Amino acid sequence: MLKLYYYINICLLYTIYIFMSMISISKALKYGEKDLIDKKIDSAKLDAELLLANILGFKQEKLLANPEHPISNIQYSSFKKLINKHKQGYSVATLTSCKEFYGIDFYVNKDVLIPRPETEILVENVLGLVGLVGVVGFIGKITCPTDPNDPTYPTNLNILEIGTGSGCVALTLAKYMPKAKILALDVSKKALKVAKKNKRRLKIENVKFKKSDLLSEFKNSRYRRWVFEPDIIIANLPYLTKKELKEPSISKEPKLALYGGKEGLELYEKLLKEIKQIYKKENRNIVIFLEINPSQSKKITELIKNNLPKAKIELKKDLAQKDRVVKIEI
Ligand SMILES: C[S@@+](CC[C@H](N)C(=O)[O-])C[C@H]1O[C@@H](n2cnc3c(N)ncnc32)[C@H](O)[C@@H]1O
Repeated sequence: MLKLYYYINICLLYTIYIFMSMISISKALKYGEKDLIDKKIDSAKLDAELLLANILGFKQEKLLANPEHPISNIQYSSFKKLINKHKQGYSVATLTSCKEFYGIDFYVNKDVLIPRPETEILVENVLGLVGLVGVVGFIGKITCPTDPNDPTYPTNLNILEIGTGSGCVALTLAKYMPKAKILALDVSKKALKVAKKNKRRLKIENVKFKKSDLLSEFKNSRYRRWVFEPDIIIANLPYLTKKELKEPSISKEPKLALYGGKEGLELYEKLLKEIKQIYKKENRNIVIFLEINPSQSKKITELIKNNLPKAKIELKKDLAQKDRVVKIEI
């Protein structure tokens, strides 16, 4: 009996101790935000919220609606660990394994480039081309019906993406164009693993992911390795220079996804040569979309003119009115 009495008392004291040492969501957020501000992280408030929401398994709205909700010591110490890692340069997306792109949540990790909002412009342009006006604000020329059940909806479009990373571009297009066939390539096996995981999670069928160094798998085989005649080619290949690579905010992302050679355009130059070699002979109409750094618009235009002299070139702007995408019709 005495033993039971002691036992109950100890449990009670322990519960009181745990409860008293718990802190509220708002206090934890204050700590996290201040720590990130000290490190001069611009989005300190939002980042702290996203990291804590991830630890608690809450949506951000639920987190903000319950400022007095207590969090356990274990949760608080996990939150502090994430704040420290973020201070060391790991992005919120890498730490939470999740990044929203074009309204869809993608799984991400250290092996892939974290999808960027600029790349939504690339998607927007492809959707605009087929008459599907996107959600970011691009007003495409409506040339096709937007209802996939419409018999005249573009059914047999083949889309080839080079440098797919997390698969965010290919899978987003596949979601909005369920009747298109998409082949997405990457040279990185680890990135392809992430892309395939996203395909499974999102239950998207009309995309295939394959390993290839640019178009080498098409070029080197006596016959095309995968029978695929693209109508649209898309690429967001690495385009940063050595100097740009030194930017601390990208220090934890894979170099393979960022470095584009001396002037940042080596991979695009190689790709344009391969496109010329493989597709130009066939006299097929292909529309190519390339994402660029706005400072590269003059140089990429020159490269295109050198390799595909008859191509029609158009520069497309992002929301900041900077050249972001090159559209090439061959
Ligand atoms: C800038 S990331 C773009 C990823 C994704 N498409 C996006 O927009 O978020 C470039 C991708 O190209 C891949 N890559 C780099 N060199 C390549 C090559 N020679 N052939 C194919 N893919 C390559 C990288 O592994 C990386 O996943």
